[in-house]
Amino acid sequence: MSTPTASSQSVTPVPPAGFGIPFLTGKQIRQGFIDFFAGKGHLFVPSAPVVPHDDPTLLFTNAGMNQFKSALLGDNREGWKRVANSQKCIRVSGKHNDLDEVGRDTYHHTFFEMLGNWSFGDYYKKEAIKWSWELLTEVWKLPKDRLFVTVFRDDDEAESLWKTETDIAHGRIMRFGEKSNFWEMGDVGPCGPCSEIHFDMGDMATQAATFADPAAGVNGTNARYIELWNNVFMQSERLSSGELKPLKSQNVDTGMGFERIVSVIQGSGSNYETDVFQPIITRIADLSGVAYSKGPEGTPHRVMADHVRALSFAIADGATPGNEGRGYVLRRILRRGSRFARNLGTREPFLWKLVETLADTMGEAYPELAQRRPYIEQVIRAEEERFMRTLDQGLDRFAKMAAETKSKNAAIIGGAEVFLLYDTYGFPTDLTRVLAEEQGLSIDEAGYAKYMEEQRERARGAAKFDGSFASDEGWTLVSPSLDTEFIGYSTLVADVNVRRFREVGDQVLVVLDKTPFYAEAGGQVGDTGTLTGKPGPAGAPLVQLRVLDTVKMFDMVLHKCDLLGGVPSLETMKNLKAEVDAENRFRTVRNHSATHLLHSALREVLGNHVQQQGSRVAPESLRFDFTHFQAMSAEEIRRVEAIVNRSIAENHSISNAIHGIEEAKKLGAMALFGEKYGDKVRVITMGPVSMELCGGTHATATGDIGSLKIISESSIAAGVRRIEAVTGLGALEMAQRNFNALADIAKVFKAKPGQEAEKAAEASARIKALEKEVLELRQTQARLQAAGVIAERGKSVNGATVIVSRLDEKTFPKDSVGLLVDGIAGQLRNGVAVLTQVSGDSLAIYAAVGKEAQAKVKAGDLIKAIGPIADARGGGKPDRAQAGSKSPDKEALVLAEAEKYLRACLESTGVGPRPSERAAAKEGE
Ligand code: ALA
Repeated sequence: MSTPTASSQSVTPVPPAGFGIPFLTGKQIRQGFIDFFAGKGHLFVPSAPVVPHDDPTLLFTNAGMNQFKSALLGDNREGWKRVANSQKCIRVSGKHNDLDEVGRDTYHHTFFEMLGNWSFGDYYKKEAIKWSWELLTEVWKLPKDRLFVTVFRDDDEAESLWKTETDIAHGRIMRFGEKSNFWEMGDVGPCGPCSEIHFDMGDMATQAATFADPAAGVNGTNARYIELWNNVFMQSERLSSGELKPLKSQNVDTGMGFERIVSVIQGSGSNYETDVFQPIITRIADLSGVAYSKGPEGTPHRVMADHVRALSFAIADGATPGNEGRGYVLRRILRRGSRFARNLGTREPFLWKLVETLADTMGEAYPELAQRRPYIEQVIRAEEERFMRTLDQGLDRFAKMAAETKSKNAAIIGGAEVFLLYDTYGFPTDLTRVLAEEQGLSIDEAGYAKYMEEQRERARGAAKFDGSFASDEGWTLVSPSLDTEFIGYSTLVADVNVRRFREVGDQVLVVLDKTPFYAEAGGQVGDTGTLTGKPGPAGAPLVQLRVLDTVKMFDMVLHKCDLLGGVPSLETMKNLKAEVDAENRFRTVRNHSATHLLHSALREVLGNHVQQQGSRVAPESLRFDFTHFQAMSAEEIRRVEAIVNRSIAENHSISNAIHGIEEAKKLGAMALFGEKYGDKVRVITMGPVSMELCGGTHATATGDIGSLKIISESSIAAGVRRIEAVTGLGALEMAQRNFNALADIAKVFKAKPGQEAEKAAEASARIKALEKEVLELRQTQARLQAAGVIAERGKSVNGATVIVSRLDEKTFPKDSVGLLVDGIAGQLRNGVAVLTQVSGDSLAIYAAVGKEAQAKVKAGDLIKAIGPIADARGGGKPDRAQAGSKSPDKEALVLAEAEKYLRACLESTGVGPRPSERAAAKEGE
């Protein structure tokens, strides 16, 4: 299919180059970058996948350097010295990449390409700076009078290299602090000072601001100045302690926003008006019949053009929309795109139709797009269909809510309902808000926020259940029966038949004829795993379900699932392969068997009054609640732990048998107090150590548990205690974490093993003593400095000493100004001081008035009189007052006003004048 052009009148054509830069296509620019660095000895390394399968901590690749992290840290260099590439990146969090903002401006994206060049212990600042300038101004011919560069606050070297290695006008080099010019990969990892290159788009930018000083907009928020290229001088590694450790070598890591440089070279003033995006935008306009516009009406086009890229690249690299992690991010992106498609009046799945155009424009640079196109289209289309079904259900639900609200004569839709629409039907809140407004209603924002907060606490993905599930209505029935045979004691994999299923919100609920999945009971959590379909009608993708939880409800064993692929139907859902997540099950099993040992050990140590009150056995840990009337001592806890671990080491075999209930009790099996049992019960025996009635899944011998470590013992109600513990690998992992933490601590305190606590206590005592000493020294110093300030800056006005002065941050560091003002206040008698300090973008104003002078001037009044000039808020008492302002440029005005005010106050009455300014100095003595 080719892109129709007949209706292209709907689209703003790419404007001619706006900055006098020779035109290049996006493709030429990408290739030009790589060729330029190849010419400087760089090896081309292809983009890493945008889905970092080997790094679970990273949702998506978000910088070119991700794949080079260990090379930057000095390991695994694979012989690389210099490399270059263009990297696929996705950023969907952070201030400027808030998903809800993308498409509203012209230069932020969810998916973007980052052009980068790297040096691993090879060249450094000089070459990086020289070459970036050469590429931008000589090869691509960007006008030098539109470029600004920034360097890190104290990076004199970088600044002087810009001056000596390039011909940039010196006034265009600026310094910034950590926030802008110190780049860090994350909380930990490689980092270093950086030097950025910014471009002034001038009037070409939508909503361009004018600045008297063109440099003033750099690193601001106006779209006129955009950051093009970041050159990071990687020389340190941030450790988890916060410390910076020098790297083995000095490296260069750079990143240039591809879409931005294209928009600059093509002179369009907007990333969306380049040949990178225009084919997709044209396609959107043609398919929807709605013309594109540069202004706010073009937002739907921009959103879709952006989102289809993120979706397609992520899906091509193996991610799929879902309910967790990456999948959830993709689902949100897709739904947002889909809603904007709806805003253009489309009612059919739409986004998938853009994949073809995308593959046409980018498939050469990224062949995976062209190769996997049918698959990408299928995944996007199926997810759009799903969302539309959900949306329709949600609209019905909303209509009912609105009617109910009105019937109660209320005007506000409750937070719970808004949340239900969001959580179960995928309604973004702004949609609910708009729908409510259409009906003359509003929504309970605070109530909704509370539910959202609660949801964050809970695991994501739980569907809402109500009583209607117990009837057949709403279910797709394969067979009317509800029984499910549990076969999971002896197997974790089985071919099973479906009895019924239904979709609820984002989830699919499935009832089977038999199942290896253990449904939550007796404190043991439900199993997780997968259900996979058999091939259905030709070409239809297999149904793939992830079982998030298994629960018993209304006589049914429900498998609560996330749909990973395919479309559930009678054909596709008949027979499934059920597979329990074995690793999770084994972890749970170890914890469950451990609770039995714990129970018997507690009775041995504390006495036979110990009764189990409840438990929770999950893969990661166990919880055991029992009757006991006081807190366990450390020694009791240690003994219980020791007994359990001895039983584990003895490796007793664990057996199970079915007995009549009376017989089981006679055998001495422990039963749960107050629990109702049937006639036949399952008895779990662990050698001579434990015999309990239990329906849960267990290890085959106690040795399987590995080990047990009690993490906490606490009270949960009067007479009921709770123990939390970990076993097996969980215990080992915890031990390793603690071991590492202790080793880190030992390193910090230079302590030998066993001495850590002693050394830490020593250090803490020393810190306290030093803090006291420092405070005393600073007070003494402040007193001396105060005397100096009074002597040097005090003037005599009608007999009173007046100091009206600015305290520059260099001479008077910000954190010592308070003490200094205290010192001045303490030494003034018939004197007044007004002091200001500018720090960053704030202005602080201090006033101090001596005892005698208070008859004429009060510090609080003084601040109230002069503060408003700088919109400063504050106040105080007659002797001390202060105020803060966000207008540092008003400092001089404030001081002038203070001077005027003080003269007026002090000259109004005739206290005998002092002859000379020397007298003022005496104030300070
Ligand atoms: N790693 C640097 C960045 O992402 C170049 O800005």
